[in-house]
Amino acid sequence: MASISPIALLLLSLLTFTGHVLSATTSYLSPETLFSNYDKMLDSFKIFVYTTPPSTDGNIFTTTQESQFYTSLLRSPFVTEDPIQAHLFFIPFPSSLSTRNLARQIRNIRVRYPFWNRTLGADHFYLSAAGVDSSSDRNIVELKKNSIQISCFPTSSGLFIPHKDITLPPIHRFQVAPSVNATPAFLGYMRLSERSPSSLIEEIKEHPEFKVESAPWNKTGEFIKSSRFCLFVYGDDMTWMVEAMALQCVPVVITDRPIQDLPLMDVMKWSEIAVFVSSSGGANGLRRVLDGIEKSRYEMMKKSGAAATQHLAWNAEPQPHDVFHMIIYQLWLRRHTIRYARWVEQ
Ligand SMILES: *[C@@H]1O[C@H](CO)[C@@H](O)[C@H](O)[C@H]1NC(C)=O
Ligand SMILES: *[C@@H]1O[C@H](CO)[C@@H](O)[C@H](O)[C@H]1NC(C)=O
Repeated sequence: MASISPIALLLLSLLTFTGHVLSATTSYLSPETLFSNYDKMLDSFKIFVYTTPPSTDGNIFTTTQESQFYTSLLRSPFVTEDPIQAHLFFIPFPSSLSTRNLARQIRNIRVRYPFWNRTLGADHFYLSAAGVDSSSDRNIVELKKNSIQISCFPTSSGLFIPHKDITLPPIHRFQVAPSVNATPAFLGYMRLSERSPSSLIEEIKEHPEFKVESAPWNKTGEFIKSSRFCLFVYGDDMTWMVEAMALQCVPVVITDRPIQDLPLMDVMKWSEIAVFVSSSGGANGLRRVLDGIEKSRYEMMKKSGAAATQHLAWNAEPQPHDVFHMIIYQLWLRRHTIRYARWVEQ
């Protein structure tokens, strides 16, 4: 039997790799399991969708991300009509539903179907952009404590539970041509939103190496392209973070506490894509941190960020490895839950 040369093997593995259309430059948490696990998900993941209350035709959600995820899910091959086959259970409800009516809906599910009682909701998930409010009602307590909440990034409300909940990234607002290799004019660009003003931002504004503007989107694109870093204050306007990454402007997130709600946190190594800095050093401290990043590391972050945007892209028709599939993948990772012994009726 002829042996296969190492070069041929290498070529073969490269071919298989590119066959996945996954970029080698993206920083994944565990690339060795991601690919096989993703394929397993495509083959076997099943989700049962509880019927919505009758009055919820049309758009029941407040954000475009939620609507798009919902529509894509309902049209996807992951949905099953047979709850016995399901790994997870989806509870759709309109954003406008009151906590009291939501509690009623959960109670109905608990009484009519056997699935809630098996895990007290741990294999259930729901969409809520801002997060479900606290309540002493048992149904809401179990929903919030056990079920997977999918909300929108950033979740500034504090209604997010790390490792259990998931966030949807913002939708790209504009399509801009990739940047030409010009020498960046600014160290960092920050887009000012109505909510931003603070003493730190005043300092950054005064600093000659930073550019702060509240520009129209086309102008923003130019500033992104002419800056090494793009500055964001966590919780403020982060809607253009993915655009910044696509244009190879490394995101800098100013935050005084660890961020636990980044999109695709189970999949991507954000520390290799974005810089996280505290506000305490002021504008000079910020400059020192950014200047201290080695060229090789900077180049790596730029490439990782640009490559990661394929997983953060929303498509009307979901594409392999895009944000819809990666959110589904995060759900798939959460499918192993404890099921209690069947409730025995006396
Ligand atoms: C689930 O348990 C509750 C008691 O906690 C019970 O009232 C309800 O009937 C059970 N649901 C089913 C489908 O057996
Ligand atoms: C940006 O867009 C606005 C309106 O869409 C237009 O008036 C302006 O000229 C554009 N600026 C540039 C630099 O293209």
